[in-house]
Amino acid sequence: MTPPNATERVVPRHVAVIMDGNGRWAKQRNLPRIEGHREGANAARRTITKAAKAGVSFLTLYAFSVENWKRPAREVSALMSLLVETLKRYEKELAENDISLRAIGRLDDLPANVRKQLDRTIQRTAHHRRMTLILALSYGARIEILEATRALARRAASGQLNPDSIDEATFASALYTHDIPDPDLLIRTSGEMRVSNFLLWQISYAEIHVTSTLWPDFAETDFQRALADYATRERRFGRV
Ligand code: IPE
Ligand code: IPE
Ligand code: MG
Repeated sequence: MTPPNATERVVPRHVAVIMDGNGRWAKQRNLPRIEGHREGANAARRTITKAAKAGVSFLTLYAFSVENWKRPAREVSALMSLLVETLKRYEKELAENDISLRAIGRLDDLPANVRKQLDRTIQRTAHHRRMTLILALSYGARIEILEATRALARRAASGQLNPDSIDEATFASALYTHDIPDPDLLIRTSGEMRVSNFLLWQISYAEIHVTSTLWPDFAETDFQRALADYATRERRFGRV
């Protein structure tokens, strides 16, 4: 998507969040990691409601990466169960807040019951317009870019696409996020200064806000602080 100009809106249109620190939150309390994830789901709920109220149009939450499959099977299956439970519990609340759900990532990798619940919530909230909530599940930016490349290469090989005509817009149209504007603000909790394979193409010009707050502790005031930080940034997009 073309970058918005520097005088654009004060409220970011698209906020993307790397929700990190659930395990450390649990460890600090001598609790099993899954308790951190459980509290993390509450933080996600708070953030979703707050973002919609603040006027954000797209909120992407990094919930599970392709790399996260390498975690112990017990943690992975607990996370999958938590996801189903959370979707079931908050489907109505999403609808009441006029929020539609989408998902990006290798969704076919998800267990059948997760896929089913996800499809159900997506379908039941599809007509809502106030905000789009995008869950990144089994998501990896490099695999997204590879899948896009393969799709374009197939079209080129079959003669449907002239390789020389491939520009940024063509490429972006082959990504999972083809109809979603690029994130304006990227938030990462728990203090890690890395992007962990998240939306690598799309965050080219995102403003980055890192907070040391662990995700389960992330409160409405933390989100407000991130928005306030964003509002002070001068986005130049390479211009002077
Ligand atoms: C983020 O918290 C949640 C997922 C990656 C699923 P972590 O589980 O990574 O928590 P830390 O980084 O170990 O504290
Ligand atoms: C990033 O967190 C992925 C999600 C928040 C889902 P990780 O905890 O998996 O990332 P690393 O391992 O610290 O880079
Ligand atoms: Mg982590």
